[in-house]
Amino acid sequence: MDLQLSNKTAFVSGSTAGIGLAIAESLLREGANVIINGRSQRTVDAALEQLRKQFPGSAISGIPADFSRAEDVKNLVSQLPVIDILVNNAGIFEPKAFTDIPDEDWFRFFEVNVMSGIRLSRAVFPSMLERNWGRIIFISSESAVFIPEEMIHYGMTKTAQLAVARGLAELSKNTGVTVNSILPGPTRSQGVETFLEDLSKAGNITIPEVEKDFFKTMRPTSLLQRFLTVEEIANIVTWYASPLASATNGASIRAEGGLVRSIL
Ligand SMILES: NC(=O)c1ccc[n+]([C@@H]2O[C@H](COP(=O)([O-])OP(=O)(O)OC[C@H]3O[C@@H](n4cnc5c(N)ncnc54)[C@H](OP(=O)(O)O)[C@@H]3O)[C@@H](O)[C@H]2O)c1
Repeated sequence: MDLQLSNKTAFVSGSTAGIGLAIAESLLREGANVIINGRSQRTVDAALEQLRKQFPGSAISGIPADFSRAEDVKNLVSQLPVIDILVNNAGIFEPKAFTDIPDEDWFRFFEVNVMSGIRLSRAVFPSMLERNWGRIIFISSESAVFIPEEMIHYGMTKTAQLAVARGLAELSKNTGVTVNSILPGPTRSQGVETFLEDLSKAGNITIPEVEKDFFKTMRPTSLLQRFLTVEEIANIVTWYASPLASATNGASIRAEGGLVRSIL
């Protein structure tokens, strides 16, 4: 199936590693021009080098910006060309007991996970409406509806993304622009890999044992009982970025291995 993505220009936030990098790879594979992002020039350059080897001849560039700094985002936005596809992927997570989460963490999580998508959408959405075509995809999480007790601040930001995405979709009525959210379940990204290694060392057990235990005790409703791969998430995002996905707008799309026990 031709996803008709050649000549579309996509910006993926937080894409030097993890799910974001897999999304960038998948969009490049389908012929899109892709702009990647990470916090530093060093990490952006390293990812660009890898992508240019994988996809010779493709239009790939990168803009460093840390979404916890409004100034960085302003600078990033000033460098953006016309964007057809915006993937709001950058996001941070950290397990912490509710009573140990200080105000600064609540605001930092909100700034990186929610304001990143708001600031980027504010920059590109008007031109999408004017051109009557565009895709904005928020990478939320199953944690938006299944708030993890070990990181309520993270869950709060992921629910907020759904509200912003749905609100923007309302503003896209009667146009060719769509705004949707994807809700991945636990996914073996770079960040999660580090989390697993830490648990393995702390408990003196192997990583497969950590994975088995995680799904048994922390995510027992998962039907897959394993971490998703970053490619599994990237495939779904690439589909919703495509002109072929024009029937879906304002939706929260689950990609969480059946973890959320709800039919709709
Ligand atoms: N992994 C999961 O289980 C899971 C499940 C559901 C939803 N999600 C969501 O999927 C998204 C990606 O998660 P992931 O697990 O792939 O994360 P990850 O592996 O930790 O991703 C790291 C990427 O995020 C970038 N990044 C981190 N902080 C940033 C900041 N302040 N500004 C700009 N870029 C930043 C890093 O860039 P540099 O290192 O180059 O700075 C790197 O490219 C997040 O929104 C997350 O909430 C993840």
